[in-house]
Amino acid sequence: SIDVPNVQALAASIANPAHVPPRYVRPEAKADPVVSDGDSELPVIDFSRLLHRRFCREESAKLHHACADWGFFQLINHGVPDQAMEKMKADIVEFFKLPLEEKKASAQLPNSLEGYGQAFVVSDDQELDWADMLSLVTRPLQSRNIDLWPAQPLTFRFVSTTCAVSYSAVQLRTYVRRHLLLLHAVRDSLSCYAMELKNVAGTLLEVMAKNLGVASEEFSTIFQDLTQAVRINYYPPCPRADDVLGLSPHADGTGLTLLLQVNDVEGLQIRKGGSWFPVKPLPGALVANIGDIIEILSNGVYKSVEHRAIVNAMDERLSIATFHGPKEYSMVSPLAEIVKGCKPKYMSMSYGEFLKAYFSARLEGKRLMENLKL
Ligand code: SIN
Ligand code: FE2
Repeated sequence: SIDVPNVQALAASIANPAHVPPRYVRPEAKADPVVSDGDSELPVIDFSRLLHRRFCREESAKLHHACADWGFFQLINHGVPDQAMEKMKADIVEFFKLPLEEKKASAQLPNSLEGYGQAFVVSDDQELDWADMLSLVTRPLQSRNIDLWPAQPLTFRFVSTTCAVSYSAVQLRTYVRRHLLLLHAVRDSLSCYAMELKNVAGTLLEVMAKNLGVASEEFSTIFQDLTQAVRINYYPPCPRADDVLGLSPHADGTGLTLLLQVNDVEGLQIRKGGSWFPVKPLPGALVANIGDIIEILSNGVYKSVEHRAIVNAMDERLSIATFHGPKEYSMVSPLAEIVKGCKPKYMSMSYGEFLKAYFSARLEGKRLMENLKL
């Protein structure tokens, strides 16, 4: 794997714009215009209405159009308890304040993208994104690498019933002994948050299946025991904010992403025609987007839309992206019920094969999906 600087430390060490290393300077950052959201607005889906017998049909139709026309929407009244979101946010903010050496206790191991570090760096001369990330697998439970979960702040990975299975008996005993006093009161913030989001994602996927006219079993078999990973993005302020990119343009290599903005600093932009459309998250909302896998399953009816993140000159920005995908060995191909009477537009492969291709290249818009087109 390729060694790249820690951006948070780099940002802290430079005050002068001239000292931003050339590898971070990206002419494309300001090549395309940014549109104001005056004439079109990102759809807002009310999750509680999706569940409500009287309003369900109307809201489902709205969701369908959001997935087909935008590939992105804001989700309000999603029912994730404030406390689960606030605890997660607070712990993350705390984690990134730790000295670098302590954060490095969660550093990526060689040849793995899980943990603290960076992803999508595949060559020594590649341009770089102005961000660090902490990626952790949360489902299936047996795939959790608890050793990479930050031990600080304590509540981040504090043992809970949902993650206890990933501890060995000895680890568990030590843990329980050490934290017995807190055990009844605290669940670890990451498991708790991940479980809440998994439930929201599951419901959205069910409604999408219905909207697409596929037997819910066909869809739910693919997303049964779904895989879930949480990626926390940390974008330090940059003295040349307009010339760098926090996250290169890309489409998500997953089924469904739910994004929570941690502080008030905005930065997510969606590709809309030849321009970038800035997302202004509503308070407490999750920003949802369709990933490549659902684009393939729906044979292109739902769109996995390109997006990027920009950074701020004065303020740090944090976001939590939670990815929901099928099992690694699931076959991913346009669903039979959708391609009835038309041609499949994408080749079929296992999710594992897809991910291998996704992570072996730099982020570059929808390049991978173009290669998968038949
Ligand atoms: C992402 O695309 O995963 C992150 C976007 C953001 O930070 O808003
Ligand atoms: Fe993304």
